[in-house]
Parts: sequence; structure tokens; C-alpha cells
Amino acid sequence: MSHRILILPGDGIGPEIVAEAEKVVTALQADFGLDAEVEHARLGGQAVDAEGAPLPESTLARAREADAILLGAVGGPKWEAIDRPLRPERGLLAIRAELGLFANLRPALLFPELAGASALRPEVVAGLDMLIVRELTGGIYFGEPRGLRIREDGVREGFNTLRYGEDEIERIGRAAFTAAQRRNGRLCSVDKANVLESSELWREVMERLAPEYPDVSLSHMYVDNAAMQLVRAPKQFDVIVTGNLFGDILSDCAAMLTGSIGMLPSASLDETGKGLYEPVHGSAPDIAGRDAANPLATILSLAMLLRYSLDEGALADRVEAAVGRVLGQGLRTPDIAGEGEPVVGTTAMGDAVVAAL
Ligand code: NAI
Ligand code: MG
Repeated sequence: MSHRILILPGDGIGPEIVAEAEKVVTALQADFGLDAEVEHARLGGQAVDAEGAPLPESTLARAREADAILLGAVGGPKWEAIDRPLRPERGLLAIRAELGLFANLRPALLFPELAGASALRPEVVAGLDMLIVRELTGGIYFGEPRGLRIREDGVREGFNTLRYGEDEIERIGRAAFTAAQRRNGRLCSVDKANVLESSELWREVMERLAPEYPDVSLSHMYVDNAAMQLVRAPKQFDVIVTGNLFGDILSDCAAMLTGSIGMLPSASLDETGKGLYEPVHGSAPDIAGRDAANPLATILSLAMLLRYSLDEGALADRVEAAVGRVLGQGLRTPDIAGEGEPVVGTTAMGDAVVAAL
């Protein structure tokens, strides 16, 4: 049966970078047996302009029918002054919530050719290849009760609730164990079980799941130590699984180990393996329309789409290898170019990846 891929170009550099990923899809269809139908729909600012809502009903309906969704990025100065419900970012939050995308997968992969771009010494980070699996729809960002109130002594206080149900922990655990099986079989669960009851339960559920995944070795680490280890010796990690708040912080930290925002893909998955794939960066209005954006984060997001939603792991490997090859050839968009290095544009980079396939 043919796979259905929905493409949401979005705003700013979104349409430019997504066009390059689409060239890769076309090449995979033509030469490597990918059986997929590609559709397009609007999300974000372009949807506000054309249809009066950041997530139009028709886009949501098509997103529900698709096997996987590839998104560019949304937002920009043009829509910053409009009412909150109409902001482009609302479209993104809404589609994540509507589709129940609870598992956020953020790889930190440093191509050896770019080791110089990291803030850390090349020998510490060269060849880094890890994955953070972050719980995305629970924890302290959503827990009730929450709010601002006036205490009995008249002083205001703000409060939030960190709450995780066994069911929520179990499903993110399963997503992480499965991801570890597809990689090198090492899973590190990060929590704060020495202080937090929610973490105690988290640890217990992870331990309970472990026997079902005999090919994965499970370890545990406190979040403060994990932060330290990430910058001290990041290559010790294969897959990390953690809650929403810890994952927000650790994934940004891990991302920056690689040095370039233009290289970082992400996936957000539901229980059935359907997912939304997007670069970690935003719509970069400062460089939009100038053929200067790096399309590789989006192309690497496509590789994740092939691996996690379409079960086309061999094609995913092929796309990632092609990206490695163009970097090896010395091709650089401005964001990853060193001092005085020649640069190529967005379309030339995409064409080079297609040629390298
Ligand atoms: P941004 O990630 O768009 O840009 C930050 C910096 O990185 C800019 O200098 C930009 O030129 C550069 N950059 C980003 N992607 C690049 C690429 N592929 N190649 C080369 N350089 C790249 O973040 P910023 O400036 O905070 O936000 C701009 C807009 O994007 C805002 O409207 C924001 O709300 C939106 N945004 C959307 C996201 C999404 O759609 N998931 C995520 C983050 C921000
Ligand atoms: Mg963040």
C-alpha cells in the first residue's frame, strides 16, 4: 500500500527548505522504490492569510489521513501583532495536540566534517550520535492545579504541578525502548528520583518495561548529572528518555553540542507510529527568500520520517549517508561555513544531496 506524506511548507524559509526535501522524495520514488503519495496543505501564517486560521479544518483532516507529516517552519514578524488565537505558532501547538503527538525525538548527530563548529573540543564531540526522547504532552507544562494566587500573608505565589500517570510513563517508555532497539540498544532514563515522587514512579515503570526489550540495556541517571555528562562526555549516550521539562532543557543542550541549528531534525510521534517531522529551527525570516537557508535539517527530518513512520530504514540510512557525502565534498551553506570557506545556496545543497543519493 502506498504511503501518504503530507507536506506543510509554512512560512519564512519553510517553503524553500521543504522544496529541497521534496526533491529527495521525488528521487527516492523514481530510483529507489519508495511508494508514496505526496500532498500539500497550509499551516501557520500562510494559512492565516489564505484561510483565516493557523490550522484550517481541511489541513487537520488531511493530517489525520496521512501516515506522516513533514513541516518546514511557521511564524514571522508579519503575524506578530495579530490576536493570540490567530498566531501561526498556535497552528503548530494545535496540530501536535490534535494528533496526540506525545513522543518528541531529537537526535544530536555531529557529522565528523563539522566537528569544528561545536563549542566543545572536536575529540569530545566528533562522531556524536545520540537521541533524546522527550515526553511532550504531560508533566509540569500541563499539570493541574496551576496558576497565580495570593497567599494568606498577602504575598503572591506562582505554582505548577509535576504529575505523571503510569500510562503516560509507559507509552513514552515504549517509544524510547523501540527507538533504542532501532539504534545501538542502550537506553538511559533521566529523572530526579532522589527528590521527586513522580520520578520514583517513572523509574519503576521503566524497570518494569525493561524485560520486554531484552536487546536494550537500561540505565538511570539523575538529571543534574545528565546535564554534566552531556557536556563532559556526550558520546557515552545512545538514547535518553526523560520527561517534558528535563527533556526541553537537555535536548537544547545536546543540540548545541553539534554547533549548527541548520542541521538538526526532530520527530513527534503518536501511539501508532504516525508522526510530524520538522527541523528544530524556526522560519528564519532574516534570511527568507535569499537562497541562504540550510535545507539539511529538513532533509534529515525526512530521513527520520522514512525510518519511524514509513518503516523504510534502508532509505533513511541512504538519505543520511548522502548528507554526509555532500559535507565530505566540502559543500557548506553560510550557517555551517567556516571563515573564508566558499558557500552554496539552498537549492544547490538540495541538488547535491539528490546527486549523492
Ligand atoms: P530561527 O530558528 O528561525 O532563527 C534563529 C537564527 O538561526 C536566525 O539567525 C536564522 O537565520 C538562523 N537559522 C535558522 N534556521 C536556519 C537554517 N535552516 N539555515 C541557516 N540559518 C538558519 O528562530 P527565531 O529567529 O527565534 O524565530 C523566527 C520565527 O520562527 C519566529 O516567528 C518564531 O516564532 C518562529 N519559530 C518557529 C518554530 C517552528 O515552526 N517549529 C520554532 C522556532 C521559532
Ligand atoms: Mg526548548
